[in-house]
Amino acid sequence: MNANPPKSITVFRGDTRLDNVVNLLEKIQPAHFSKEVDKIFRRAWLPVTSMSDLPEPGSYVTITVPPLKASLLITRATDGKVRAFHNVCRHRANKLVADGEKGCKHRFTCGFHAWSFASDGKLAVVMDESQFVGLDKSRYGLVPVHCEVWEDFVFVNFDPAPRETLAEWLGDIHGGYKGYFDGREEIANWSIVVNANWHITVNAFTEGYHSLFLHKNTLPDYQGGSDNPMRHRPFLEIMPRHARYSAKANPNHKMTPVEAVAYNAGRKLYPAFPPVDCTGPDFPKAVNPGRVDHWAFDIVEFFPCFVLIEGADWHQNMWFWPVDADHTEIRVVDYAYKAKTVGDRLAHSYLRVRNREVFREDISTMEAIHASLKSGAVPEIILSQQEMLIQKHYAMAAAMVAQP
Ligand SMILES: [Fe+2]
Repeated sequence: MNANPPKSITVFRGDTRLDNVVNLLEKIQPAHFSKEVDKIFRRAWLPVTSMSDLPEPGSYVTITVPPLKASLLITRATDGKVRAFHNVCRHRANKLVADGEKGCKHRFTCGFHAWSFASDGKLAVVMDESQFVGLDKSRYGLVPVHCEVWEDFVFVNFDPAPRETLAEWLGDIHGGYKGYFDGREEIANWSIVVNANWHITVNAFTEGYHSLFLHKNTLPDYQGGSDNPMRHRPFLEIMPRHARYSAKANPNHKMTPVEAVAYNAGRKLYPAFPPVDCTGPDFPKAVNPGRVDHWAFDIVEFFPCFVLIEGADWHQNMWFWPVDADHTEIRVVDYAYKAKTVGDRLAHSYLRVRNREVFREDISTMEAIHASLKSGAVPEIILSQQEMLIQKHYAMAAAMVAQP
């Protein structure tokens, strides 16, 4: 082992005080969780879906937002505008469109009494309208939720008067992704509910310290190498609200026989990382922001509960939606470059299968951690410098909960 591993570059933006000891038992209590719902989830800009769910005018998708017990209908109307509404009929509050449904149409008709709404939310048709005394249809459109599109993501904000614009909320991230998400296709999509508090689940994906141990069989040599045996992150950045790091590839990674077949047929994706020239003026400035050499991928925590893993030609969207203080619904969607050949499909399949195996390992500790904390055995967790994104996560959560 090298006695002097490369030092991480850490960039702090904004006035951030981080603690390396966190009383997590306190944070997983139901009373604390209800404060988080009101002060964090009801106020933050939350990414809820990707624009690939809304490919053309008339596209719509329904998305549940578990911490707010909300179902949203997101539409892209003929005027091109993306809007979000509570997915609730204004007549008797029936669910208008089934959860999980997506497609393309311009009218949404309730199955209960056939009230019908346009994709801009206006109430279009009331059956047997003359029987409603004094009904002013203009007052009974779908209930809107603040909604903005940024790059490939649709964000919503449940605050009746959001305290910041989405651009302010995203800060340095906002302008930095030009073109990065173009030319991708969805290659995998799965979700699971785990018996663990949401903090525990997000925290499992924002440090690389565990990768040497938890992923010793699935990812034995994808990072590190002789000059960085503990896989220290070469770049960490703590922003006012969010945080990110870059991971370095191991240039001496040995592909397994199956990986070699897949990645000789298509492009190398992961855990074999192709060399990427990140130095050109067109390379998005928020991707590999520290311009580290042998770049593998970045992890970005969009506070509170979304993690983006971004590599060359692939990315993974991960949502960690709290259901209540003891349960979290994790949603994962994988994207890769658009396949043109059978070889590309083979490479996609390899990425999909490998990611799922790694994900299974990542979720394997969550329920045990939650149960251990609940037992009262250990109230606190201790965090290293390599786990600084987790330190930032709790600092940001505390700051929002403390707001009036
Ligand atoms: Fe992991």
